[in-house]
Amino acid sequence: MELYAEQTQQEFEGWEEFYSKLVDEKLDCFQSKGKLFDVIYAQQFDREFLDYLCNLADMIRVLAKTKMGQKKLRNLLPHKRAMLYFVQPSTRTFLSFQNACYILGLSVSENRGTITSSEVKGESPEDTIRTFASYVNLIISRHPQAGFAEKMAWVLNQTERPVPVINGGSGPDQHPTQALLDIYTLEKEFHDVGGLDGKKIAMVGDLKRGRTVRSLSYLMKNYKDVELFFVSPDIFKMKDDIKSFLVKHGIPFHETDDFESIMPKVDAIYMTRIQNEYSEDPSSEAETYPEFHFKTKHLSMIHPHCAILHPLPRRYEIEVAVDKDPRAAYWRQERCGMWIRAALIAHIFGVEGEIFKELE
Ligand code: NCD
Repeated sequence: MELYAEQTQQEFEGWEEFYSKLVDEKLDCFQSKGKLFDVIYAQQFDREFLDYLCNLADMIRVLAKTKMGQKKLRNLLPHKRAMLYFVQPSTRTFLSFQNACYILGLSVSENRGTITSSEVKGESPEDTIRTFASYVNLIISRHPQAGFAEKMAWVLNQTERPVPVINGGSGPDQHPTQALLDIYTLEKEFHDVGGLDGKKIAMVGDLKRGRTVRSLSYLMKNYKDVELFFVSPDIFKMKDDIKSFLVKHGIPFHETDDFESIMPKVDAIYMTRIQNEYSEDPSSEAETYPEFHFKTKHLSMIHPHCAILHPLPRRYEIEVAVDKDPRAAYWRQERCGMWIRAALIAHIFGVEGEIFKELE
Protein backbone atom coordinates (compact mmCIF):
# COMPACT_ATOMS: atom_id res chain seq x y z
CA MET A 1 0.00 0.00 0.00
CA GLU A 2 1.04 3.50 -0.81
CA LEU A 3 2.77 5.58 1.86
CA TYR A 4 1.00 8.75 2.85
CA ALA A 5 2.87 11.99 3.24
CA GLU A 6 2.90 13.33 6.74
CA GLN A 7 -0.09 15.59 6.93
CA THR A 8 -0.51 18.73 8.91
CA GLN A 9 -3.69 17.40 10.49
CA GLN A 10 -5.92 19.83 12.29
CA GLU A 11 -8.91 19.13 14.46
CA PHE A 12 -12.39 19.49 13.04
CA GLU A 13 -14.52 20.60 15.93
CA GLY A 14 -17.55 18.40 16.36
CA TRP A 15 -16.34 15.54 14.15
CA GLU A 16 -15.48 13.08 16.92
CA GLU A 17 -18.84 13.70 18.55
CA PHE A 18 -20.67 13.21 15.25
CA TYR A 19 -18.70 10.09 14.31
CA SER A 20 -19.40 8.42 17.62
CA LYS A 21 -23.19 8.74 17.24
CA LEU A 22 -25.30 5.71 16.34
CA VAL A 23 -25.63 5.30 12.58
CA ASP A 24 -29.42 5.59 12.69
CA GLU A 25 -29.09 9.00 14.35
CA LYS A 26 -26.83 10.29 11.60
CA LEU A 27 -28.68 9.20 8.49
CA ASP A 28 -30.69 12.42 8.16
CA CYS A 29 -27.44 14.35 7.79
CA PHE A 30 -26.81 12.58 4.49
CA GLN A 31 -30.20 13.57 3.05
CA SER A 32 -31.14 16.80 1.38
CA LYS A 33 -34.65 18.00 0.57
CA GLY A 34 -36.08 14.69 1.75
CA LYS A 35 -33.94 12.52 -0.51
CA LEU A 36 -30.60 10.80 -0.63
CA PHE A 37 -27.66 13.19 -1.01
CA ASP A 38 -24.48 11.52 0.31
CA VAL A 39 -24.22 7.73 0.05
CA ILE A 40 -22.23 6.61 3.06
CA TYR A 41 -23.97 3.70 4.78
CA ALA A 42 -25.91 0.69 3.48
CA GLN A 43 -28.40 1.45 6.26
CA GLN A 44 -29.56 4.43 4.16
CA PHE A 45 -31.46 2.14 1.77
CA ASP A 46 -34.93 0.79 2.45
CA ARG A 47 -36.91 -1.75 0.45
CA GLU A 48 -38.85 0.82 -1.51
CA PHE A 49 -35.62 2.51 -2.56
CA LEU A 50 -33.92 -0.78 -3.43
CA ASP A 51 -36.83 -1.93 -5.62
CA TYR A 52 -37.01 1.47 -7.27
CA LEU A 53 -33.25 1.59 -7.96
CA CYS A 54 -33.18 -1.93 -9.44
CA ASN A 55 -36.06 -0.93 -11.68
CA LEU A 56 -34.27 2.27 -12.72
CA ALA A 57 -31.10 0.27 -13.49
CA ASP A 58 -33.18 -2.04 -15.70
CA MET A 59 -34.57 0.97 -17.58
CA ILE A 60 -31.11 2.44 -18.16
CA ARG A 61 -29.96 -0.95 -19.38
CA VAL A 62 -32.83 -1.17 -21.86
CA LEU A 63 -32.21 2.36 -23.15
CA ALA A 64 -28.47 1.70 -23.51
CA LYS A 65 -29.18 -1.11 -25.96
CA THR A 66 -29.76 1.33 -28.81
CA LYS A 67 -27.73 4.20 -30.23
CA MET A 68 -30.69 6.53 -29.82
CA GLY A 69 -31.24 5.42 -26.23
CA GLN A 70 -27.58 5.93 -25.40
CA LYS A 71 -27.73 9.40 -26.87
CA LYS A 72 -30.74 10.23 -24.69
CA LEU A 73 -28.94 8.96 -21.60
CA ARG A 74 -25.82 11.00 -22.42
CA ASN A 75 -28.01 14.07 -22.71
CA LEU A 76 -29.23 13.75 -19.14
CA LEU A 77 -26.21 15.11 -17.26
CA PRO A 78 -23.69 16.66 -19.67
CA HIS A 79 -23.67 19.77 -17.45
CA LYS A 80 -22.35 17.83 -14.44
CA ARG A 81 -18.82 16.79 -13.52
CA ALA A 82 -17.66 14.02 -11.17
CA MET A 83 -14.40 13.40 -9.33
CA LEU A 84 -13.21 9.86 -8.75
CA TYR A 85 -10.87 9.99 -5.75
CA PHE A 86 -9.65 6.41 -5.48
CA VAL A 87 -6.58 6.21 -3.26
CA GLN A 88 -7.00 2.52 -2.50
CA PRO A 89 -6.62 -0.04 -5.31
CA SER A 90 -9.73 -0.65 -7.38
CA THR A 91 -10.61 -2.06 -10.77
CA ARG A 92 -14.36 -2.68 -10.86
CA THR A 93 -15.66 0.03 -8.57
CA PHE A 94 -13.56 2.64 -10.35
CA LEU A 95 -14.39 1.50 -13.87
CA SER A 96 -18.07 0.91 -13.23
CA PHE A 97 -18.49 4.36 -11.67
CA GLN A 98 -16.47 5.96 -14.47
CA ASN A 99 -18.55 4.24 -17.13
CA ALA A 100 -21.78 4.96 -15.25
CA CYS A 101 -20.79 8.64 -15.48
CA TYR A 102 -20.05 8.33 -19.21
CA ILE A 103 -23.42 6.66 -19.80
CA LEU A 104 -25.20 9.66 -18.25
CA GLY A 105 -22.97 12.21 -19.98
CA LEU A 106 -21.03 13.44 -16.93
CA SER A 107 -17.39 14.45 -17.36
CA VAL A 108 -15.00 12.69 -15.03
CA SER A 109 -11.74 13.72 -13.33
CA GLU A 110 -9.71 11.19 -11.40
CA ASN A 111 -7.09 10.94 -8.72
CA ARG A 112 -5.85 7.44 -8.06
CA GLY A 113 -3.12 8.11 -5.52
CA THR A 114 -2.20 10.72 -2.96
CA ILE A 115 1.32 10.69 -4.36
CA THR A 116 0.26 12.82 -7.31
CA SER A 117 -1.77 15.37 -5.36
CA SER A 118 -0.89 18.18 -2.98
CA GLU A 119 -1.28 15.69 -0.16
CA VAL A 120 2.46 15.05 -0.62
CA LYS A 121 2.96 18.68 0.33
CA GLY A 122 1.06 18.03 3.54
CA GLU A 123 -2.41 19.10 2.47
CA SER A 124 -5.04 17.37 4.55
CA PRO A 125 -7.53 15.00 2.87
CA GLU A 126 -10.28 17.37 4.04
CA ASP A 127 -8.76 20.32 2.15
CA THR A 128 -8.12 18.07 -0.83
CA ILE A 129 -11.77 17.05 -0.95
CA ARG A 130 -12.88 20.65 -0.50
CA THR A 131 -10.79 21.53 -3.51
CA PHE A 132 -12.50 18.83 -5.59
CA ALA A 133 -15.84 20.31 -4.55
CA SER A 134 -14.74 23.62 -6.09
CA TYR A 135 -14.54 22.01 -9.50
CA VAL A 136 -17.06 19.18 -9.63
CA ASN A 137 -20.67 18.32 -8.73
CA LEU A 138 -20.12 14.84 -7.32
CA ILE A 139 -17.28 13.12 -5.45
CA ILE A 140 -16.88 9.35 -5.39
CA SER A 141 -14.21 8.17 -2.98
CA ARG A 142 -12.41 4.99 -2.07
CA HIS A 143 -10.04 5.10 0.85
CA PRO A 144 -8.22 2.62 3.12
CA GLN A 145 -9.51 4.35 6.23
CA ALA A 146 -12.85 3.49 7.86
CA GLY A 147 -15.10 6.54 8.13
CA PHE A 148 -13.23 8.50 5.45
CA ALA A 149 -16.17 9.16 3.10
CA GLU A 150 -18.36 10.02 6.04
CA LYS A 151 -15.95 12.63 7.31
CA MET A 152 -15.62 14.16 3.85
CA ALA A 153 -19.40 14.38 3.51
CA TRP A 154 -19.68 15.86 6.99
CA VAL A 155 -16.98 18.46 6.27
CA LEU A 156 -18.45 19.44 2.89
CA ASN A 157 -21.99 19.68 4.25
CA GLN A 158 -20.80 22.56 6.44
CA THR A 159 -19.30 24.51 3.55
CA GLU A 160 -21.03 26.79 1.08
CA ARG A 161 -20.47 24.20 -1.65
CA PRO A 162 -21.64 20.84 -0.41
CA VAL A 163 -21.53 18.33 -3.26
CA PRO A 164 -22.72 14.74 -2.80
CA VAL A 165 -20.12 12.21 -1.67
CA ILE A 166 -20.49 8.54 -2.58
CA ASN A 167 -18.58 6.00 -0.52
CA GLY A 168 -16.87 3.63 -2.95
CA GLY A 169 -15.35 1.65 -0.06
CA SER A 170 -14.00 2.92 3.25
CA GLY A 171 -11.41 0.55 4.69
CA PRO A 172 -12.76 -2.69 6.15
CA ASP A 173 -15.90 -0.87 7.17
CA GLN A 174 -18.52 -0.46 4.44
CA HIS A 175 -19.02 -0.59 0.69
CA PRO A 176 -22.65 0.50 0.26
CA THR A 177 -22.74 0.64 -3.54
CA GLN A 178 -21.31 -2.88 -3.77
CA ALA A 179 -24.26 -3.95 -1.61
CA LEU A 180 -26.58 -2.25 -4.09
CA LEU A 181 -25.12 -4.17 -7.01
CA ASP A 182 -25.18 -7.39 -5.02
CA ILE A 183 -28.90 -6.92 -4.34
CA TYR A 184 -29.51 -6.08 -7.99
CA THR A 185 -27.61 -9.20 -9.05
CA LEU A 186 -29.41 -11.46 -6.56
CA GLU A 187 -32.82 -10.14 -7.60
CA LYS A 188 -31.94 -10.78 -11.24
CA GLU A 189 -30.52 -14.25 -10.61
CA PHE A 190 -33.67 -15.14 -8.62
CA HIS A 191 -36.01 -13.64 -11.20
CA ASP A 192 -37.61 -17.00 -11.99
CA VAL A 193 -37.70 -18.28 -8.42
CA GLY A 194 -39.56 -15.45 -6.68
CA GLY A 195 -36.80 -12.90 -6.05
CA LEU A 196 -34.66 -12.46 -2.96
CA ASP A 197 -37.43 -12.80 -0.34
CA GLY A 198 -37.32 -16.13 1.46
CA LYS A 199 -33.87 -17.11 0.24
CA LYS A 200 -30.97 -18.70 2.10
CA ILE A 201 -27.63 -17.03 1.49
CA ALA A 202 -24.15 -18.20 2.44
CA MET A 203 -21.33 -15.68 2.85
CA VAL A 204 -17.94 -17.33 2.73
CA GLY A 205 -14.35 -16.32 3.52
CA ASP A 206 -12.95 -13.33 5.39
CA LEU A 207 -16.17 -12.05 6.93
CA LYS A 208 -14.31 -10.09 9.57
CA ARG A 209 -12.52 -7.64 7.28
CA GLY A 210 -14.62 -7.95 4.11
CA ARG A 211 -16.62 -4.75 3.79
CA THR A 212 -18.86 -6.17 1.04
CA VAL A 213 -20.40 -8.88 3.23
CA ARG A 214 -20.84 -6.37 6.03
CA SER A 215 -22.77 -3.90 3.85
CA LEU A 216 -24.81 -6.69 2.24
CA SER A 217 -25.77 -8.07 5.66
CA TYR A 218 -27.23 -4.70 6.60
CA LEU A 219 -29.46 -4.74 3.53
CA MET A 220 -30.94 -8.12 4.42
CA LYS A 221 -33.32 -6.46 6.84
CA ASN A 222 -35.25 -5.24 3.80
CA TYR A 223 -36.13 -8.75 2.63
CA LYS A 224 -38.69 -11.16 4.05
CA ASP A 225 -37.65 -14.49 5.55
CA VAL A 226 -34.03 -14.35 4.46
CA GLU A 227 -31.64 -16.67 6.30
CA LEU A 228 -27.87 -16.20 6.39
CA PHE A 229 -25.05 -18.72 6.73
CA PHE A 230 -21.69 -17.26 7.71
CA VAL A 231 -18.96 -19.67 6.63
CA SER A 232 -15.43 -18.79 7.68
CA PRO A 233 -12.32 -19.90 9.49
CA ASP A 234 -12.58 -19.06 13.17
CA ILE A 235 -10.22 -16.07 12.94
CA PHE A 236 -12.31 -14.42 10.19
CA LYS A 237 -15.75 -14.71 11.75
CA MET A 238 -18.34 -12.01 11.17
CA LYS A 239 -17.98 -9.24 13.76
CA ASP A 240 -20.42 -8.76 16.61
CA ASP A 241 -21.79 -5.42 15.38
CA ILE A 242 -23.32 -7.15 12.33
CA LYS A 243 -24.55 -10.09 14.38
CA SER A 244 -26.26 -7.74 16.87
CA PHE A 245 -27.87 -5.91 13.96
CA LEU A 246 -29.24 -9.19 12.59
CA VAL A 247 -30.54 -10.24 16.00
CA LYS A 248 -32.20 -6.84 16.44
CA HIS A 249 -33.96 -7.18 13.09
CA GLY A 250 -34.93 -10.81 13.57
CA ILE A 251 -32.82 -12.13 10.70
CA PRO A 252 -31.76 -15.72 11.41
CA PHE A 253 -28.10 -16.54 10.85
CA HIS A 254 -25.84 -19.52 11.44
CA GLU A 255 -22.05 -19.69 11.75
CA THR A 256 -20.01 -22.63 10.59
CA ASP A 257 -16.59 -23.64 9.28
CA ASP A 258 -18.04 -26.60 7.38
CA PHE A 259 -18.59 -25.14 3.91
CA GLU A 260 -19.61 -28.39 2.18
CA SER A 261 -22.35 -29.09 4.72
CA ILE A 262 -24.25 -25.92 3.84
CA MET A 263 -23.77 -26.06 0.04
CA PRO A 264 -26.93 -28.12 -0.64
CA LYS A 265 -29.02 -25.89 1.63
CA VAL A 266 -28.56 -22.45 0.14
CA ASP A 267 -29.91 -20.42 -2.79
CA ALA A 268 -26.82 -18.25 -3.15
CA ILE A 269 -23.16 -18.52 -2.23
CA TYR A 270 -21.32 -15.22 -1.84
CA MET A 271 -17.59 -15.92 -1.96
CA THR A 272 -14.93 -13.47 -0.71
CA ARG A 273 -11.14 -13.36 -0.62
CA ILE A 274 -8.90 -13.06 2.42
CA GLN A 275 -8.39 -9.32 2.96
CA ASN A 276 -4.74 -9.52 4.00
CA GLU A 277 -3.99 -5.92 3.01
CA TYR A 278 -5.47 -5.01 6.39
CA SER A 279 -2.95 -7.19 8.21
CA GLU A 280 0.02 -5.57 10.00
CA ASP A 281 2.20 -7.87 7.91
CA PRO A 282 0.30 -8.99 4.76
CA SER A 283 3.04 -11.43 3.72
CA SER A 284 2.60 -13.34 6.98
CA GLU A 285 -0.90 -14.27 5.86
CA ALA A 286 0.04 -16.78 3.20
CA GLU A 287 -2.55 -19.38 4.25
CA THR A 288 -5.11 -19.91 1.46
CA TYR A 289 -7.80 -21.76 3.48
CA PRO A 290 -8.66 -24.37 0.81
CA GLU A 291 -11.65 -25.66 2.79
CA PHE A 292 -13.31 -22.34 2.00
CA HIS A 293 -12.80 -22.56 -1.77
CA PHE A 294 -15.53 -23.37 -4.28
CA LYS A 295 -14.39 -26.04 -6.71
CA THR A 296 -15.91 -27.66 -9.79
CA LYS A 297 -16.63 -30.81 -7.77
CA HIS A 298 -19.03 -28.70 -5.67
CA LEU A 299 -21.23 -27.80 -8.65
CA SER A 300 -23.12 -31.09 -8.32
CA MET A 301 -23.82 -30.38 -4.65
CA ILE A 302 -25.66 -27.06 -5.03
CA HIS A 303 -29.25 -26.27 -6.09
CA PRO A 304 -29.92 -25.96 -9.84
CA HIS A 305 -30.87 -22.31 -9.22
CA CYS A 306 -28.06 -21.53 -6.73
CA ALA A 307 -26.27 -18.29 -7.69
CA ILE A 308 -22.53 -18.05 -7.07
CA LEU A 309 -21.43 -14.48 -6.42
CA HIS A 310 -18.09 -12.84 -5.66
CA PRO A 311 -17.40 -9.09 -5.47
CA LEU A 312 -14.04 -9.84 -7.14
CA PRO A 313 -11.05 -9.69 -7.35
CA ARG A 314 -10.75 -13.45 -7.12
CA ARG A 315 -7.61 -15.23 -6.06
CA TYR A 316 -8.00 -18.96 -5.53
CA GLU A 317 -11.42 -19.00 -3.81
CA ILE A 318 -13.27 -20.09 -6.95
CA GLU A 319 -11.74 -22.50 -9.44
CA VAL A 320 -11.73 -20.87 -12.88
CA ALA A 321 -13.47 -23.90 -14.42
CA VAL A 322 -16.55 -22.94 -12.35
CA ASP A 323 -16.88 -19.81 -14.54
CA LYS A 324 -18.42 -21.88 -17.34
CA ASP A 325 -21.35 -23.01 -15.19
CA PRO A 326 -24.44 -20.84 -15.77
CA ARG A 327 -24.82 -20.45 -12.01
CA ALA A 328 -21.51 -18.55 -11.82
CA ALA A 329 -22.96 -15.04 -11.57
CA TYR A 330 -19.86 -12.98 -10.72
CA TRP A 331 -19.11 -11.72 -14.23
CA ARG A 332 -22.73 -10.66 -14.63
CA GLN A 333 -22.50 -9.19 -11.11
CA GLU A 334 -19.63 -6.82 -11.98
CA ARG A 335 -21.59 -5.58 -14.99
CA CYS A 336 -24.66 -5.02 -12.80
CA GLY A 337 -22.43 -2.62 -10.86
CA MET A 338 -22.24 -0.21 -13.77
CA TRP A 339 -26.03 -0.12 -14.29
CA ILE A 340 -26.97 0.27 -10.66
CA ARG A 341 -24.33 2.97 -10.15
CA ALA A 342 -25.71 4.82 -13.18
CA ALA A 343 -29.16 4.53 -11.59
CA LEU A 344 -27.82 5.88 -8.30
CA ILE A 345 -26.19 8.89 -9.97
CA ALA A 346 -29.35 9.56 -12.02
CA HIS A 347 -31.34 9.50 -8.78
CA ILE A 348 -28.95 11.84 -6.94
CA PHE A 349 -29.26 14.38 -9.74
CA GLY A 350 -33.03 13.84 -10.03
CA VAL A 351 -33.18 12.82 -13.70
CA GLU A 352 -34.92 9.48 -13.20
CA GLY A 353 -38.26 10.94 -14.36
CA GLU A 354 -36.79 11.52 -17.81
CA ILE A 355 -35.57 7.92 -17.98
CA PHE A 356 -38.94 6.44 -17.00
CA LYS A 357 -40.68 8.82 -19.43
CA GLU A 358 -38.60 7.49 -22.33
CA LEU A 359 -39.94 4.00 -21.76
CA GLU A 360 -43.58 4.79 -21.10
C1 NCD B 1 -14.23 -5.52 -3.04
C2 NCD B 1 -13.68 -4.39 -2.19
O1 NCD B 1 -12.93 -3.53 -2.69
O2 NCD B 1 -14.04 -4.38 -1.02
N1 NCD B 1 -14.00 -5.33 -4.41
C3 NCD B 1 -14.87 -4.58 -5.13
O3 NCD B 1 -15.14 -3.44 -4.84
N2 NCD B 1 -15.46 -5.18 -6.18
C4 NCD B 1 -13.82 -6.86 -2.57
C5 NCD B 1 -12.36 -7.16 -2.40
O4 NCD B 1 -11.48 -6.35 -2.67
O5 NCD B 1 -12.09 -8.29 -1.98
